Order: sequence, then C-alpha cells, then structure tokens
Amino acid sequence: MDRPYIICHMVMSLDGKVTGDFLGKSEYGKFIEDYYRIHREYGADGFLCGRVTMEGSFPQPPVSPHKYDGPPIAREDYIAHKAAFYAVAVDPKGKLWWNGRAISDPDEGYDGAHIIEVLTESVPDAFLAHLRDKGVSYIFGGKTELELALVLKKLKNLFSIEKLLLEGGGNVNGSFLQEELIDEISLVVIPAAECSENAIPLFKTGKYGAKTASAKSFHLKEAKRLNDDGLWLIYSKN
Ligand SMILES: NC(=O)c1ccc[n+]([C@@H]2O[C@H](COP(=O)([O-])OP(=O)(O)OC[C@H]3O[C@@H](n4cnc5c(N)ncnc54)[C@H](OP(=O)(O)O)[C@@H]3O)[C@@H](O)[C@H]2O)c1
Repeated sequence: MDRPYIICHMVMSLDGKVTGDFLGKSEYGKFIEDYYRIHREYGADGFLCGRVTMEGSFPQPPVSPHKYDGPPIAREDYIAHKAAFYAVAVDPKGKLWWNGRAISDPDEGYDGAHIIEVLTESVPDAFLAHLRDKGVSYIFGGKTELELALVLKKLKNLFSIEKLLLEGGGNVNGSFLQEELIDEISLVVIPAAECSENAIPLFKTGKYGAKTASAKSFHLKEAKRLNDDGLWLIYSKN
C-alpha cells in the first residue's frame, strides 16, 4: 500500500454524534478514558485531525500578526524532525500558529507528538517562516485544495507513517470516507442520545466533508461491551 493504514477512531453517542453535552458529563468520563486507552493500545505512528479539532483540543496562545520581510519561501515539503509519533494537522489555509514543534497534553498518548502541518500552497510566507522557526514540519497537499491521497503518500514516504489514527472531526472524517481512504473504524459508543440541530455527525457532508452521500460498506470485526452500557465496535473494510 502506498499510504498508511487508516483507522478512524472516535467516541460517539447512540445516534452517531461526535459533539454534544453528553461528552462532558462525568458519568460518561470512563468512556472517554476508554477512548484514550484504545488510542494508546493501537500503537499507531500518529494521529490526524482537522483544523477545528486541533484548535479545540490543543489551544495555542494568541499570536500577534506576523510580518515577513525575507526572500520568498519555496513551496517545498519541510521535514523539521523525525519522531516516533506524529500529530498531523489538516490546516489548508495556515491558521494554526503552533507555539512549539510538539503537542503538549496531559495524556501520554498525545503528549510530545511531533506536529506535521498539511497545507495548500496558498498559505502566506509568514506562516511558513513561523513553522520553520518553531521546528514544525509541513507538507503540501495541493495548490488551493487538498488531494488527500497525495497527502497520505507523503506521510508514508517522508515520515515512515505506516499506521495512522484518523480522529475527527466529522468534516475531515467525511472527506476520508468519500475518497475510500478508511481501512478500519473504531467506535466507542456512549450510551446516550441527544437531540440537536447543530451536533456534528461521525461523517459529515459539506465543503470539507463528503461531497456525496453514497454509503460505504464495512465488516464487523469485533464488538466489546464497555463498562456495562457502552460498546467498542471495530469495523474493517476487508
Ligand atoms: N467525539 C470524538 O471522538 C471527536 C473527535 C474529534 C473531534 N471531535 C469534535 O468535532 C468538532 C470539530 O469537527 P468539525 O467537523 O467541525 O471540524 P474538523 O474536521 O476538525 O476540521 C474541519 C476543518 O479542517 C480543514 N479540513 C478538514 N478536512 C479538509 C479537507 N478534506 N480539505 C481541506 N480542508 C479540510 C478545514 O479547515 P479550514 O476551515 O481552516 O479551511 C475545515 O474547516 C469539535 O467540536 C471536536 O471536539 C469529536
């Protein structure tokens, strides 16, 4: 395979939502712990999230507007560091002004992951100069739009990523599903259902989600009961 094996690992409600008040309820905290434990046990080479999820999960200190007076920076992939574990951020317009080259998080499954930004060539030079200054790696996935298959090929060839956890949100998951780039789905199901107008589903359609809503099929590999009322479901493509 010319790309990493992709496991979409998510925690969701009974009705397939990945956002909502239920996620913050203390009675369901044990399922979130299960989600983190399974993330660690997968032993992947990294995880990938969309820009919105990265912003919410790993907030950065505000940055003042950046000026760049140096020579033009070529749109070439930049490997700042080779690591055992990577945090891959899908950030086509260059909005994540990271403060350092690695994720800082209380959970050991995320802490220390070396950041790779996935960009389009439309990002400003000031942003590239900032990433270089902070020691953040970056790759280009297209001129103005991302070609996900190319992005995955580069992650394998440049960083030796063989197994990658796709961890949301619904938009980035939707775009991977549509392009048939998901090999396995790992779901921690919380025993709660919540009505909502705006909650995000596991796989979303839209500008950055799937463009069509054609169903993709998976096979049940395993179903395990979690803490009495929850489930861990594993589905695979083949
Ligand atoms: N329950 C769970 O397991 C779980 C896991 C992860 C996240 N979440 C939740 O999900 C929510 C965020 O989900 P979301 O769907 O709104 O956002 P998201 O998928 O995290 O990020 C969407 C953004 O990422 C960029 N992007 C994603 N896919 C792209 C593609 N194929 N091509 C180009 N750009 C792409 C775009 O950034 P630009 O707008 O900058 O162009 C897009 O707006 C958060 O509330 C988070 O807490 C839940």
